[in-house]
Amino acid sequence: MQHHPTTGHLNKILAAGISTFVFASGAWASEATVVPEQPDFPAQSKITYVPRDSIASFKALSSYSEPEWITKNFVETGALPPVEERLPEEPLVFKTGNMPDGIGVYGGTLRHVIGGRPEGWNYQAGQSTGWGGIDIGMFECLTRTAPLYQVEASDMEPLPNLAKSWEWSEDGHTLTMHLIEGAKWSDGVPFTSEDVLFMWEDNIVDPNVTPLNGASRETFGSNTTLKALDDYTVEWTFEEEFPRQYLFNMAYGNFCPGPAHIMKTKHPSYADTTYDEYRNGFPPEMLNWPVMGAWAPVEYRSDDIIVLRRNPYYWKVDEEGHQLPYIDELHYKLSTWADRDIQTIAGSADLSNLEQPENFVVALRRAAEETAPARLAFGPRLIGYNMRMNLSGNGWGEPDARAQAVRELNRNPEFRKAITMAIDRQSLGDSLVRGPFTAIYPGGLNSGTSFYDRESTYYYPYDPEGAKEILASLGLEDTDGNGFVNWPEGTLNGEDLNIILLLSSSYNTDVNLAEGVIGQLQQVGLRVVQNSIDNNQYESMRYGGDFDWMILRNSPALASVVQGTTSLAPVGPRTSHHHRAGPDGTLDLMPYEEQLVEIVSHFIATSDDAERAELMKQYQEVATKNVDTIGLTEFPGALIVNKRLDNVAAGAPIFMFNWAEDAIIRERMFVPKDEQGGYQLFPETLPGKPGADGPVKG
Ligand code: GLA
Repeated sequence: MQHHPTTGHLNKILAAGISTFVFASGAWASEATVVPEQPDFPAQSKITYVPRDSIASFKALSSYSEPEWITKNFVETGALPPVEERLPEEPLVFKTGNMPDGIGVYGGTLRHVIGGRPEGWNYQAGQSTGWGGIDIGMFECLTRTAPLYQVEASDMEPLPNLAKSWEWSEDGHTLTMHLIEGAKWSDGVPFTSEDVLFMWEDNIVDPNVTPLNGASRETFGSNTTLKALDDYTVEWTFEEEFPRQYLFNMAYGNFCPGPAHIMKTKHPSYADTTYDEYRNGFPPEMLNWPVMGAWAPVEYRSDDIIVLRRNPYYWKVDEEGHQLPYIDELHYKLSTWADRDIQTIAGSADLSNLEQPENFVVALRRAAEETAPARLAFGPRLIGYNMRMNLSGNGWGEPDARAQAVRELNRNPEFRKAITMAIDRQSLGDSLVRGPFTAIYPGGLNSGTSFYDRESTYYYPYDPEGAKEILASLGLEDTDGNGFVNWPEGTLNGEDLNIILLLSSSYNTDVNLAEGVIGQLQQVGLRVVQNSIDNNQYESMRYGGDFDWMILRNSPALASVVQGTTSLAPVGPRTSHHHRAGPDGTLDLMPYEEQLVEIVSHFIATSDDAERAELMKQYQEVATKNVDTIGLTEFPGALIVNKRLDNVAAGAPIFMFNWAEDAIIRERMFVPKDEQGGYQLFPETLPGKPGADGPVKG
């Protein structure tokens, strides 16, 4: 099913006013009210806004340099060409004025801790590399958006990256992109439009492949096409006019190509292989995976560590011509997400996104001490959690009879309303952390986004008795006296209603929220059973539609609106998190979802700021009044960074357009010489040949 912004229809929506068209039945038992004001929280960092072009540009410099040991051990021995030959004609040059501490020094180690585990390097076909910013450091994308948190709103457009410039045709349907020329993968093979087209045709558009963050053609618009004009020029065509919004989707994590020269050897369109063999063909043991990013993996020890070393072909420099990155080595200790906070606070790791409120108090306390090894700064309230109900009634994820019956309940507005009324959000938030951090969050856009409008944000206040009444009116009553409601006679033999809640066991917060919800719903007689599984399996089940309900931490769309906008509604068969097309490729949208689709499509197709602000107010009202998702809680996150690191972009939020690992621009961070600390495991080495046993000495 295709959806296009039909201006006529939208104008009707605008004219009718939200409240009259949203509810066909008018059968709500209690009125939706505007959400309470969010409490102020302490120590929110300030951002100094800058023009977009003050961050970087592409240009040739008169000379280039690199760490001395590379010249000595690699270039002088003939193992590598000189640095100026490894760089593109016009590298990306970071401007000194935008670097908080200026030009850096080489050396040092950036020590990460993560709770994820790598499935392999085939990010482009959906394998997790372990999260925590490994993929962000390895894969570069056509555009870049994470650093935009510091860009003035009037100047908001993605930064060039692998696409160094672009222009629109006069009619706005064609976008020509110029790729960086002469840049190379970390194994020295040229990066060209072949890599971009392989990403598009064989990973994004190929229905048998789902890239890691779930991009599909519709992420870039219905019927969008992409072709190569030559090695360094690609051309997009769009149905919409000037859909500048899609430039945001060309950033992390939707358009970050992998090395076609390696990946094609296992893709079924080029090799005699299956799609499973392709997806799983590049396990974490395969070292020296070619990257366009600043660091490539040279060591992997299961449940222990991943080590990455600097990419000798990296195509970014500072204004004095030093090839980046400054930092030689990246560590990813394989532990837990909670341990990332603890180690960073204690000084044995360098960087953490403090995103689990359970750790807020201990982290704040330690960071306040003068001897604290790390700095901590809170950003806006942009971390949010929703419980999402699977709204596909036509077979996404191939539900059995029980699951199908649950889907039909999920699609009943009265049912969704009962569930949201049964949730005590204040106590859910308090169970994570006391104090002013968490706020009542009914779903929809996070309160920290610039598009947020509280007056358009509705919720159904906590009312367990009211919830029970609604459930009873739907025929959901405890007929066998065991404390849990049964299906009505005639459905599943009137047995107990069981709902399965999918969640990732890798995060304490997800587990605590799930347990809170399950306990609260028990109070209204609903039996919810948790399916709490490791994050990699969780991700594959949720993309597969294999859930009744799930706990999902918000993606960037709800925190920025402009990033991943297509995920705000089922605008295409595979864009929404909780409602995707059934096996026949169609979406069975409910009337309020049709409205969300109209609103989001219109938002994508217009560049008028006032209109976009208005559209997002409508989005918020339609989404929250119709309980598109069950909002649970939202809170600010804090970035924790070891004090030995310099050039940490000031005020970077842990999450907005993307995670902080991207926003802080790690390739230009550095560690002063006397604080580099001997942490390197493979000093003076570089990534070796793809698949070879480890790094090389020269
Ligand atoms: C995980 C972590 C986040 C962030 C991202 C980066 O999701 O929970 O804090 O590090 O990885 O991809």
